[in-house]
Amino acid sequence: MSNTPNLSLDAIRSTLSTNRLGQRIDLYQQVGSTNREAMSLAQAGCEHGTVVVADTQTEGRGRLARVWFSPPGVNLYCSIVLRMPIEPPQLSPWLSWLPLITAVAVAEAIESATSAAVSVKWPNDLLIGDRKVGGILCESGTGQDGHHVQVIGIGLNINGQHADFPSDLGTSATTIREATGAPTDRNRLLAQLLHELEVCIEHFSQIGTAAVMLAYQRRCSTLGKPIRAALNGGTELVGLATSLGEDGSLTVVEQAPLQANRQPTTHSLRVADIIHLRT
Ligand code: BTN
Repeated sequence: MSNTPNLSLDAIRSTLSTNRLGQRIDLYQQVGSTNREAMSLAQAGCEHGTVVVADTQTEGRGRLARVWFSPPGVNLYCSIVLRMPIEPPQLSPWLSWLPLITAVAVAEAIESATSAAVSVKWPNDLLIGDRKVGGILCESGTGQDGHHVQVIGIGLNINGQHADFPSDLGTSATTIREATGAPTDRNRLLAQLLHELEVCIEHFSQIGTAAVMLAYQRRCSTLGKPIRAALNGGTELVGLATSLGEDGSLTVVEQAPLQANRQPTTHSLRVADIIHLRT
């Protein structure tokens, strides 16, 4: 359907420039979920940077227990195992920043490999215009050796056509091909993505939050926008997304109704599903 090369280890390796990520790549035609596969490998002790990639998933998982649409032949579904030497005091900031670091890296990779302009809806939805082109699901666990491990799962809509989306995604999702009019080689994009991710992780480990905070703020199209946030437990919040907290949380100022005669309330969101409201 897409007239682009199939996923292949040789093709991925031909442009791979990383030192650690992707030294081991397990490529499947079909898998339940690359995240699930990667977490099993991580728990069994596989090396840092191991990548699981599949042409299609039968049980692709999204954030907030959603299903991730995973048709064959057109997209990228990959998961990367991280086994970082992080001491307990640094673990919490690392876990809260990891999805944001990944979003910056994936946006950079798409822009290097294609002509698309990509922004990030907090915390880590990849957008072209106001439509979602990719998502990130970070999960953590403990290996046999008792060390903390993380799995970063990335799903990107690349060469499919809009008409192929199920009806519930029709108005909210897009593909790189739909946006640019051109096909993208998934092998090159994966190699670029691993490179950008390695660079971002290195920066974060060496410099801390400052650099990634700036890069994320530049990319994040949620900041400065009126938003509706669906929170855990079914409550909703409408307000202005004003800034990013030190831990990557989203600060939202909720305007009280005029007649309520009270000050705006400031909320700090760590987990939420955000909708950008039209201005
Ligand atoms: C989201 O809901 O936005 C996150 C979607 C993450 C999907 C990817 S596809 C590869 C990896 N394997 C999964 O089962 N999920 C992630």
